[in-house]
Amino acid sequence: MEPSRSFSEAGSGRATGLHASLHSSVSREWTEPHLHASQLVYPLFVTLEAEDKPIAGFSPNMQWGVGDGAEPYPGLIKHLRELGEKGLRSVMLFGVVKDKDPEGSMAAADDTPVIVATKAIRAALPEMLVMCDVCMCEYTSHGHCGVLREVAGDHEDVIDNERTIDILADVALAYAQAGAEYVCPSDMMDGRIHTIREKLDQNGFRHVGVMAYTSKKASTMYSPFRAAVDSTFTGHRKRYQQPVGSILHARQALARDESEGASVVLVKPALFYGDIIKEYAQRSVLPIACYIVSGEYVMLQDYAKRAGDLESVLKESHVGLLRAGASILITYFTPELLDMIPKWR
Ligand code: PBG
Ligand code: ZN
Repeated sequence: MEPSRSFSEAGSGRATGLHASLHSSVSREWTEPHLHASQLVYPLFVTLEAEDKPIAGFSPNMQWGVGDGAEPYPGLIKHLRELGEKGLRSVMLFGVVKDKDPEGSMAAADDTPVIVATKAIRAALPEMLVMCDVCMCEYTSHGHCGVLREVAGDHEDVIDNERTIDILADVALAYAQAGAEYVCPSDMMDGRIHTIREKLDQNGFRHVGVMAYTSKKASTMYSPFRAAVDSTFTGHRKRYQQPVGSILHARQALARDESEGASVVLVKPALFYGDIIKEYAQRSVLPIACYIVSGEYVMLQDYAKRAGDLESVLKESHVGLLRAGASILITYFTPELLDMIPKWR
């Protein structure tokens, strides 16, 4: 019988060593996934202010002022044009508004910042893919991701799932009409992918994709984001976001969102959830996106300062997600990565 080339023969000098494949930089690169600019999605916060405003505790991210739609928007468009020259292909927009109410009425208003910014970006940079976050929490006065209802005897907030998904479908349609090519529901209601998909299809927007937040944990890693959207939220979202330790909910949500017509499934947060990314990549026929969220961003930023090497920290963290099976990375480090990745090959 042919002797097997097993690890137990290490040291015998036959075909078991790693040093040959580790010796040259090119043979090392053969073994790693390569990050391409087309895989990066840059999240942006947009307001109706006339000026751009830095976000405390989350620099250099900004609230980009898109004005009232009457003026050109020098800051945001200039920033995106520069990044576009470095290969940026897509952005994800989050709206920040002052006039929040219990119904989140500003989410789909004609002059809501996401719609104003979508039209502006599509007009100035027609090659840029615009994806819009679809949720109520940036627009509700109570800060929940949906509208609420009363349930006798329940002393915690209860979401009105059915009414919320109808509103979300209207919001998604309004963003598609403004020029969004992907809508990205981060609300975590049941049935929203179906309702949104149906609404888009019935109105001539079959070509608009639905990027479903599928594994979304009730994570502690979102606090800089809540500052970024001027959130008034004080409660918890554990009745609609998933327990951090649960893989069962991640599986159930994958089955739900695939059957409801998702175009892409998303894992959020990303860094602690390689098992879920890998399982989705193995089980699903859809592309897997993952979102390196605001808390993960500051964590990596702080460690990179301490290590004195942002590039190595970004390579290890982002390429690790590709290895797990993601093909789309939503990351606040997009500007830095666009400068770095040409050197990684
Ligand atoms: C809510 C939403 C959140 C993020 C994106 N959409 C946070 C939350 O559930 O409070 C977080 C993104 C980040 O932290 O970068 N729909
Ligand atoms: Zn929300």
